[in-house]
Amino acid sequence: MSDPFDKLVDDARAVFDASASKPLRDAWGGLDLPQVRQDLIARFADAGIVDAEIDARYLLAHVLSPASYADAVADPALCSWQRISLLADLAWERLKRKPMAQVLGSQPFWTLDLLVSEDTLTPRADTETLVESVLKTCGQEAAQLVDLGTGSGAILLALLSERPDWRGLGIDLSPAALEVARHNALRCGLDDRAHFIEGRWGTGLADQSVDILVSNPPYITSEVLAGLEPEVRVHEPKLALDGGTDGLDAYREICADILRLLRPGGWLAFEIGYDQAKAVSDLLEVTGLVAITTVKDLAGHDRVVMAQTPVK
Ligand SMILES: C[S@@+](CC[C@H](N)C(=O)[O-])C[C@H]1O[C@@H](n2cnc3c(N)ncnc32)[C@H](O)[C@@H]1O
Repeated sequence: MSDPFDKLVDDARAVFDASASKPLRDAWGGLDLPQVRQDLIARFADAGIVDAEIDARYLLAHVLSPASYADAVADPALCSWQRISLLADLAWERLKRKPMAQVLGSQPFWTLDLLVSEDTLTPRADTETLVESVLKTCGQEAAQLVDLGTGSGAILLALLSERPDWRGLGIDLSPAALEVARHNALRCGLDDRAHFIEGRWGTGLADQSVDILVSNPPYITSEVLAGLEPEVRVHEPKLALDGGTDGLDAYREICADILRLLRPGGWLAFEIGYDQAKAVSDLLEVTGLVAITTVKDLAGHDRVVMAQTPVK
C-alpha cells in the first residue's frame, strides 16, 4: 500500500505537470524573485506586450499581496512556490495577450472595483468623463436612469453609487455581459436600485419613462477594429466594439428611440470616439434634441456628447 504522504506528493506533481503554465514553472524553479521578475518582463516584451514592465509589476503585486515586492525580495519566505505557480498561471494567460483586467478578473472604475470577463468590455478610464458630465449636469434630485449597452454595468453603477435617490436599468443584447453586471451590482451593494434586462437598445422600453439616458455604444469602425492590438481585437467582445462601416450604426439606431424614451427636458449622454463629435451632434440635432454640447476627456479629446429633449 502506498504511503499517504507519497500519494499527496504524487497528486501535487500530477497537477503541476498538467498545468498549461508548466514551461514557466519549470523555467522559474531555482530562480530568485528578481530573476523571475526579469524573465517575466523579457517574455512579456518578446510577446509584443507594450507595457511589459508595468504588467509584470501588476502581476507580482497581485500574487504577493499583502506583501510588497520589496518585502518579498528581502524575505524570500514571503514568496512561496504556490505564489510563483499562481504567477506562472496568470502570466501564461497574459502571454496569450489576454487583457490584464481579464487575467486578474476585475478592473477599477470610478470608485468601484468591477468584475470583467471575455463577455464584457473592460471599463475604460475615458468613460469616467461621461460619469462626471452626467453628475455635473443632472443634479441631485431623484431620477430614473437607463444605460443602453450596459456591459459590466460600469456607467450605471458608478452613477448610482454617487446618487442615492437615483434608480437605474441597464440593457444589453449580451446575456453573458448582463450576468457580470448583476454580480457587479451585488458586489457594489447597489442591487436594490440597479436592474438589468436583455434587449436591443431601448426598443423594449415604455414611452417617455426616463429622466436620463446614457450610452457608451460600440463606435469603432470595422476597418479600424481589424487593426487593433490582440487584447482588444481577439479578447474583447466584437459586439461591444464594432460600430459598423462609419462607426455610427448604434447611434443611429438609438436616436430613433430617444424622443420616445426620454421625458421632455430629460438628458442624454453618449460616449463618442475622438473624431465623432460633429457626426453624433448632427444626428442628435436632426432627432430634435437641444442644448447639444461636447465634453473633452483628460487627454483633451472629444469624448462625450450631451443633449436635452425639448420641454414642450
Ligand atoms: C462599448 S460597450 C460599453 C459597455 C459599458 N457600458 C462600458 O461603458 O464599459 C457596448 C455595449 O453595448 C452592447 N450592445 C451592442 N449592441 C447592442 C444592442 N443592439 N443592444 C443592446 N446592447 C448592445 C454590447 O454587448 C456592449 O456591452
